[in-house]
Amino acid sequence: MSKSFIIVAIDGGAAAGKSSTSRALSERFKLMHVDTGSFYRATTVKLMELGVPAKAGPELGKGLNSLELDTALEGNSASIVINGWIPDQSIRSQQVNENVSHYAAIPELRKFLLDYQRDQANVARAKGFAGLVMEGRDIGSVIFPDADLRLFLFADPVKRAARRAAEGLADSIETRDKLDASRKTAPLACPEGATYLDTSEMTLEQVVDHVSTLVTAAFEEA
Ligand code: CDP
Ligand code: CDP
Repeated sequence: MSKSFIIVAIDGGAAAGKSSTSRALSERFKLMHVDTGSFYRATTVKLMELGVPAKAGPELGKGLNSLELDTALEGNSASIVINGWIPDQSIRSQQVNENVSHYAAIPELRKFLLDYQRDQANVARAKGFAGLVMEGRDIGSVIFPDADLRLFLFADPVKRAARRAAEGLADSIETRDKLDASRKTAPLACPEGATYLDTSEMTLEQVVDHVSTLVTAAFEEA
């Protein structure tokens, strides 16, 4: 018997191909796409605007309490809305690249976003999608450890830097990866039992084709 709704978790380092793969899967299988990296980026922008430093404490608590979260659907992708603001390209600035991993390492901030992230499955169901594809660093380990398919995309750091540069973006991917992999709470790692895919020598099309067979199988699993 095939499943009527599946959850696909995609984790991996910076510029590993998570967003492009997730977007392609969302179109192929009518899954709602959620980029949790944009949640951390947008929260970072808001906290920096408020002058809240990247450390636990009352200032952070006060800052987080002032943020009201909502969701907006743009095509197949769900976007976070913070106090009425829909994040734009400004969340991909060099300043945010340099700061986001410091904020993302704070357990209180991760806790603040936890239920909101899990609730995206309900949003996807309510909107009539065939499933959810959620990408990030801890989706298969913390957010949806029981997801129908858990993937970890790897690519050589030199290849990833080249991919980012080809997009015309300056990015501190190695620094972010180091911070993300070494933090205590929800570190970047391939969770046990997840499918590890080394995409260093693969084109995006090859990755999407390969992963699509896994998604098809996930729908068919009893
Ligand atoms: O697109 P890229 O892979 O470069 O980064 P991103 O997915 O937009 O994530 C930006 C940052 O948010 C990461 O470097 C992590 O510090 C943090 N993040 C996280 O801690 N947990 C997630 N589930 C997603 C992102
Ligand atoms: O979301 P994440 O930061 O993991 O990566 P992305 O934004 O999906 O991919 C970063 C860039 O690498 C994009 O321009 C993709 O088209 C490119 N890419 C690639 O050249 N080959 C792959 N196998 C995967 C992604």
